[in-house]
Amino acid sequence: MTQIDQLRRYGLFDAKVPRYTSYPPANHFAADAGTLHQRDWLQAVPQGSEVSLYIHIPFCKRLCWFCACRTQGTKTLRPVDVYVNVLLQEMVQVARLLPSDVRIGRLHLGGGTPTILSPKTMTRLLKGVFDSFQRAEGFEFSVEIDPTEAAPDLLQTLADHGMNRASIGVQDFDPKVQDAIGRAQSFAQTFDCIQILRDAKVHSLNMDLLYGLPHQTRASLVDTLEQVLALQPDRLALYGYAHVPWMSKRQVMIDGTALPSAEARFELTDMAQRMLRLDGFLPIGIDHFARPGDSLAVAAHSGGLRRNFQGYTDDQAKVLIGLGASAISQFPQGYVQNHAATAAYTSAIGQGRLAGARGHVLSDADRLTARMIEQLMCSFAIEAQALAVEFPDQGATVAGAVAALVAAYPDACRSDGTGLQIVDGFAPLVRVMAGHLDHYRAGQMAHSSAI
Ligand SMILES: C[S@@+](CC[C@H](N)C(=O)[O-])C[C@H]1O[C@@H](n2cnc3c(N)ncnc32)[C@H](O)[C@@H]1O
Ligand code: SF4
Repeated sequence: MTQIDQLRRYGLFDAKVPRYTSYPPANHFAADAGTLHQRDWLQAVPQGSEVSLYIHIPFCKRLCWFCACRTQGTKTLRPVDVYVNVLLQEMVQVARLLPSDVRIGRLHLGGGTPTILSPKTMTRLLKGVFDSFQRAEGFEFSVEIDPTEAAPDLLQTLADHGMNRASIGVQDFDPKVQDAIGRAQSFAQTFDCIQILRDAKVHSLNMDLLYGLPHQTRASLVDTLEQVLALQPDRLALYGYAHVPWMSKRQVMIDGTALPSAEARFELTDMAQRMLRLDGFLPIGIDHFARPGDSLAVAAHSGGLRRNFQGYTDDQAKVLIGLGASAISQFPQGYVQNHAATAAYTSAIGQGRLAGARGHVLSDADRLTARMIEQLMCSFAIEAQALAVEFPDQGATVAGAVAALVAAYPDACRSDGTGLQIVDGFAPLVRVMAGHLDHYRAGQMAHSSAI
């Protein structure tokens, strides 16, 4: 039986599963964990600790049809400037609840399109952040950048305020694919943006690519990858396009009949992985690649890779504070998501309240499952020894999870009786296997394709 037949036998091409950037996944969050927990959990952050900050900018000048991110279109900067005022209020409210000696180790601006801000508004936002939160030593500041919406003076403003990592949206360079996903972006625009970033001494550059797009073929993806490699990124994310028009309405603009089948998606990602490995990139988890000396690659090699709402990271902070509409905060006690609609978010902050609207309080059982799923997603293994240190009394539950996976996927995993390792060639099944451990899956809404 060929590898593809074995993967088919285990249901890879039919499965719809979460991406497990959290456990439980955000669609399971409920209204019973919100503002009250957010306040308690912020106040419970230990003195002297280092936290990470995520700021969501839910605005774009154009709305790409493929995009499943939480964002809204705007023709003018007026609503963006008003929104930044609300963000500044929120960060003061949040910082007041934290012990005064908490420091931020990481700041990430995501969206939407953070680079839509004018240099003046960006300066105002960052001054507010640095007035409210002290920076830790080795502070990292990363920003999601759309090269078609990134003015040189704005990029310089970000660099002047310490941006040292940039994540650049590319998706695909083929004009036919770009037409089909409603996102025009030339190689020249992307090249110029990267040049400005490098001239401004922003040395760690990631690029986002997608496979599984309409009209994408192996040949067209090779062309895109060759152009991307010529730009010499340090990291790459190659996400499987999630076609979820029932959640992301703008995707109805995409012709579903032009999408590659699940088998074709597998072949696209498999081919791309080989090409990137040949170029010297190391694969990180299910969809990232990094040069060997990159901190993500180092973390993956030393067992320090983590998975949070931003995907794969080497960030070890136990608390991630999300600011802005729809932003999610992660605490040891659970998750809280702010109101998703900008109007509801603005109203909550305007009334002096925190903006948490839904979330999840983690039980002990959730915590163990979350960690096992994170291990699977990061290292394609369940590491029983590490779990025994974190969860000393849970050996039997871990053994039960391992036995369940071995029984369900006998050729796909190997167990030494305690932990488990996914066998080479079966790594694409990892989300399906994680789904097998997920106690919240029954009755959940449909997710994106497992491959
Ligand atoms: C929040 S977007 C920000 C990117 C930035 N605004 C830009 O356009 O370059 C971050 C990344 O999410 C990924 N993404 C968006 N929609 C997706 C989807 N439907 N499936 C998979 N990945 C998606 C894209 O790779 C995108 O670069
Ligand atoms: S891909 Fe970027 S620019 Fe396009 S809609 Fe999504 S967030 Fe906005």
